[in-house]
Amino acid sequence: MAVLKILVPLIIGLCAYYFYSPESFSAEKVQGKRVLVTGSSAGIGEQIAYEFARMGANVMLTARRENLLEEVAQKCLELGASSAGYVIADMSNLTSAQKVIEETKSKLGGLDYLVLNHAGGNVGFHLYKGNMETVKSSMTINFLSYVQLTSSALDMLKQSEGSIIVISSMTGRIPSPFVIEYSAAKFALEGFYGGLRTEMRLRKINLAITIAVLGYIDTETAIREVSDKMTLVPSSKEECAQKIVQGGVLRHREVIYPYWSQKFVLLLRDFIPDLVDKLVGKSYKVENIS
Ligand SMILES: NC(=O)c1ccc[n+]([C@@H]2O[C@H](COP(=O)([O-])OP(=O)(O)OC[C@H]3O[C@@H](n4cnc5c(N)ncnc54)[C@H](OP(=O)(O)O)[C@@H]3O)[C@@H](O)[C@H]2O)c1
Repeated sequence: MAVLKILVPLIIGLCAYYFYSPESFSAEKVQGKRVLVTGSSAGIGEQIAYEFARMGANVMLTARRENLLEEVAQKCLELGASSAGYVIADMSNLTSAQKVIEETKSKLGGLDYLVLNHAGGNVGFHLYKGNMETVKSSMTINFLSYVQLTSSALDMLKQSEGSIIVISSMTGRIPSPFVIEYSAAKFALEGFYGGLRTEMRLRKINLAITIAVLGYIDTETAIREVSDKMTLVPSSKEECAQKIVQGGVLRHREVIYPYWSQKFVLLLRDFIPDLVDKLVGKSYKVENIS
């Protein structure tokens, strides 16, 4: 009984905190803002670009495949973007990452939202066989290029009192087998951007950092890589992008999507990590991974 007296108000309080947001989301907050979305030729990045476009932002896209970038830019304009452009870049090269920011500055004159979303290198499921090259490649594309883009854009973001939205993953919170180079890069992102957020606050610099912690989302790449190797059901990339953009615009510290299933695992992880490892382990079809 005594436990219930504590538990019930606690659960009501947590629900109220989750559902009641003192600030409300509105498209006007984004109209005319300058946004760079990396990895926006496909998947979640493409959908994030469309979300910003619908609200009238100036959208800058980047990835490697020009034909797709051209199509996404065209669709952004149709959806209502104030402007839409793109720059082709390969994030395995840090100088290219730097050039993306230079190009963005020259085309948009500044930056309000930096959305760090691309993922590449050997992101598919595989057995780790001690290959340092896959580790270096993943750390460069999935971590160092994010840091390079941030470092190059920092002055613009400070000036606009803007936001950085970092796309992370449950693999950045719970160490994940068979994608360990990717998981390591996501953990590194969490460390870097979590620390940077606090440092900005302590230095009284008004720069928001939102980290999006995603579960399994139904992008082509993820379905191709995951469907025969895990027993999970994917969530919608469109809704995922909506939640990320809303959380980013409202300057929330983190966005977890899909919320309840991921949050539950994260809470359990802190109390019973061995059990969580075992439960997560059960969702892999190890025989299909080589
Ligand atoms: N889908 C999921 O289940 C899931 C779950 C958790 C977290 N996430 C995270 O969500 C983000 C988006 O994932 P997604 O599923 O949408 O991926 P995706 O569909 O494979 O899209 C990845 C994007 O990154 C770009 N990219 C890949 N390698 C690149 C490189 N070397 N240089 C520049 N751009 C590169 C791709 O474009 P080009 O090929 O044209 O370069 C593409 O636009 C990633 O950060 C991922 O870690 C996804």
